Amino acid sequence: MEKCAIITGSSSGLGLEMTKSLLFSGYTVFGGSRSGTDLEHDNFYDVELDITSEESVDEFFETVREFTDKVHLVINNAGICEMTSLSDTSTESFEMHLATNTVGPFLLFKGLESFIVPGETHVISILSTAAHYGYPNVSGYNASKFGQLGLIQSLKKEWKDYKIRFTNLFPGAIDTPLWDKVGMKASRDKMLKTSDFMAVFNFIVEAPANIQFPELTFLHKDGFLE
Ligand SMILES: NC(=O)c1ccc[n+]([C@@H]2O[C@H](COP(=O)([O-])OP(=O)(O)OC[C@H]3O[C@@H](n4cnc5c(N)ncnc54)[C@H](OP(=O)(O)O)[C@@H]3O)[C@@H](O)[C@H]2O)c1
Repeated sequence: MEKCAIITGSSSGLGLEMTKSLLFSGYTVFGGSRSGTDLEHDNFYDVELDITSEESVDEFFETVREFTDKVHLVINNAGICEMTSLSDTSTESFEMHLATNTVGPFLLFKGLESFIVPGETHVISILSTAAHYGYPNVSGYNASKFGQLGLIQSLKKEWKDYKIRFTNLFPGAIDTPLWDKVGMKASRDKMLKTSDFMAVFNFIVEAPANIQFPELTFLHKDGFLE
């Protein structure tokens, strides 16, 4: 297989769109999610994955190993977001944000290491402006995305001898199914469209391999959603 990509959270929203785009660009894609997708393509492997479970992440990589031992592109995308005031946030909900958005990428990167192609693998993480910037009523999301950024910054230095690329994307709000689940009403007028996000994503994926984009923040022209 010439170009192999893995992507977490391929069943919905940005993950599903990125999967379709990578297939169109000729990648073989291993997509992981709990619910899967109807997407059918000869080069798409829809693999069951619960990113919060070490056993499930191990099984995901065992499936990938049946086909290849080289991963050229990694999209660290799976994530959850609930909006509630601190007093209404249960400990279970806060911990689930950490399990999905922080421990999940930790498990992903542990599993990934033996598939790295030195000098070539590109790791793209879909963080959020909430990895840098505090918003009200999303304490679990904010804490978990800040934590994910810390994890990546540490790993980038630890893995420097692999000479691989890390791209961290910090998008503002994007109109995806995530907003149907957050638990609070949000105006979609000041959100990016999925197609806006894809314009940036495709630019990053197609850019010459000697360019790195350590941090890219992008949001709707009318500013932050608060
Ligand atoms: N939409 C925005 O405004 C926005 C802005 C900035 C950043 N982001 C980030 O972009 C990423 C994608 O969000 P989206 O807007 O596309 O949301 P989405 O439509 O809700 O998709 C989330 C994806 O994550 C997967 N996921 C959630 N928990 C999982 C788990 N335990 N194991 C495996 N997969 C899991 C879901 O799959 P299953 O439920 O099938 O498991 C789904 O495919 C997230 O990291 C989010 O924080 C979104």
